[in-house]
Amino acid sequence: MKVLIVGGGGREHAIAWKAAKSPRVDKLYCAPGNAGIAQVAECVDIGVMDFDRLVDFAKREQIDLTVVAPDDPLAAGAVDAFEAAGLRAFGPRKNAAVLEGSKAFSKDLMKKYGIPTAAYETFDSAQEALSYLETADMPIVLKADGLALGKGVLICNTLEEARAGVQALMLDKQFGAAGNRIVIEEFMTGREVSVLSFADGKNIRIMASAQDHKRAKDGDRGLNTGGMGTFSPSPFYTEEIDAFCREHIYQPTVDAMRAEGREFKGVIFFGLMLTEKGPRVLEYNARFGDPETQVVLPRMKNDIIDVFEACIDGALDQVELEFEDNAAVCVVLASDGYPEHYEKGYKISGLEKFSDEDGYYAFHAGSRLDEEGNIVTNGGRVLGITAKGVSLKEARSNAYKAAEWVEFANKYMRHDIGKAIDEVS
Ligand code: AMP
Ligand code: GLY
Repeated sequence: MKVLIVGGGGREHAIAWKAAKSPRVDKLYCAPGNAGIAQVAECVDIGVMDFDRLVDFAKREQIDLTVVAPDDPLAAGAVDAFEAAGLRAFGPRKNAAVLEGSKAFSKDLMKKYGIPTAAYETFDSAQEALSYLETADMPIVLKADGLALGKGVLICNTLEEARAGVQALMLDKQFGAAGNRIVIEEFMTGREVSVLSFADGKNIRIMASAQDHKRAKDGDRGLNTGGMGTFSPSPFYTEEIDAFCREHIYQPTVDAMRAEGREFKGVIFFGLMLTEKGPRVLEYNARFGDPETQVVLPRMKNDIIDVFEACIDGALDQVELEFEDNAAVCVVLASDGYPEHYEKGYKISGLEKFSDEDGYYAFHAGSRLDEEGNIVTNGGRVLGITAKGVSLKEARSNAYKAAEWVEFANKYMRHDIGKAIDEVS
């Protein structure tokens, strides 16, 4: 069959790499892709928001399955556009992608269906938000309602910070229309875990757990980023926690969406916090995580095309997900200065050392081919260096070893990805 993947980052490289392993795939395309994805798929120069051209391409090439990976096109109805043209597409429709696209929607859903999350209030007016803050406990968390590249969340330690946050989100519109409405919620403490799952509208299947590292600098300092590294599984995600989440969070979320007439087919990413009072939902995403996918898919044994199709067909009850009994760690190699100002266009060397058969992967996040055919840096996050190992510790040491194989000007990485692993052994 012919498969098209929409997207062009590290997550899409991991999805494309996994799809290319399927014996069912004869031809794989990716729009727009990147220099790494070009090694496993034919890249097509169409942007992820250009639905007309994406649909035209899929019709012309008789694509059997399109996988829409990023949040923006999902929230804007990419899957609906493919379906309207009679094409099969994997991912939530617009009315379900709102689970990520509006924090106010997801918080109201959790409240209505008793899914554990932080207490909150929603505000459309800066004036009301400011007067609410006067009597609220600090620290407190402000969240822009709409999509803001994972950066629309402000943790405020003092009333002054919280007031400045309302100003930035609602009045200065730092994240544009995403801040027309905000959620103000209780500050929680605990360890964070990312759990990805497949849903078919009725059934849900859970993938291996992972932990992200969102801050730019070692010791969880610096600005929030798209993610600087991950490991899987999380040793803190115990069987007991898993059982609680299955009963109180995962299936109830799928059931709630269905009850609302917003059947969710695709990937639900549960951002959880393991608090003293039990697991709580921090956020939902309506897509694979980046860079969680880069540690989860290399450990998955199933043919991912079968799983995508089962989600579309409502047949996930026929599927058991299987994961290797090992571990994976991903260290992101970024351009120094990310997530603010950074340079692009530097030649990348050392990539020929990677072999997935040995458990080493260089997933490209921001790369392109220059006029001479060199692979050059083309983004803040450049590569996700993933390695497997029998244990998390071995995977981590392999990933850091492999991170040294690669060179480019202004290469930057965190040196403490997976440090938390040391707390459990
Ligand atoms: P989100 O995009 O909602 O996942 O938020 C980004 C990050 O902000 C999370 O990964 C947490 O580290 C932090 N965060 C979000 N909500 C809360 C909360 N209620 N309490 C404490 N930290 C939070
Ligand atoms: N790694 C967090 C995210 O994909 O949103």
